[in-house]
Amino acid sequence: MDGIVLETEQLFLCEWSLKDFDAFKAIATNPTVMQFIGTGALWSDDRIQQWIEKQIFLYTNYQFCNWVLIDKMTQAFMGFCGLQPFNQEIEIGWWLAPEYWGKGFATESAQAAMADGFNRLNLSRIVSIAQPANHRSIRVMEKLGMQFEKMSTDLRGIEVVYYAKNRPAG
Ligand SMILES: CC(C)(COP(=O)(O)OP(=O)(O)OC[C@H]1O[C@@H](n2cnc3c(N)ncnc32)[C@H](O)[C@@H]1OP(=O)(O)O)[C@@H](O)C(=O)NCCC(=O)NCCS
Repeated sequence: MDGIVLETEQLFLCEWSLKDFDAFKAIATNPTVMQFIGTGALWSDDRIQQWIEKQIFLYTNYQFCNWVLIDKMTQAFMGFCGLQPFNQEIEIGWWLAPEYWGKGFATESAQAAMADGFNRLNLSRIVSIAQPANHRSIRVMEKLGMQFEKMSTDLRGIEVVYYAKNRPAG
């Protein structure tokens, strides 16, 4: 496991390493995970490699990225959750392997990533997007206290819901 950046009750949120390729490939080539990602196409090896390199670049240059999620109990690679730039804003996002769905892990990790964004990174606003049929993901946004703002086609022409939350006062 590479550098732990954040910790929750059940999870570590960690830096990426090129060694995460195989574990992430299992997720990015799983049709159940990819159903509401872009066109639903499974990712090629090149795209997976570029994604990992982008996360390493983001962390090195901006001190945030979509963190690797590690199960504290088993040390297993569960997916990712974290922040990335999107259209002049900072977006929070999450992908988990299906065996971890429905146990609150996306919400638990996203609460930590969001608090880190507002507190350590001093962001004033965090947004999130999802295809309208991705009810699980939209539910996570709601549980984070994010508010629906608009429908958008900013993501390569694909229609998405656009949620946002401002830094809490105080
Ligand atoms: C979206 C995703 C990360 C959610 O992960 P998760 O760990 O299951 O999320 P949580 O358990 O924290 O919360 C899920 C919520 O959705 C609810 N939910 C589950 N199935 C649902 C459904 N079919 N319709 C509506 N809500 C649903 C759960 O009940 C839970 O809400 P609750 O706590 O009020 O009961 C996971 O499904 C995933 O990785 N999907 C594939 C990748 C993806 O689409 N990422 C988002 C891109 S926008």
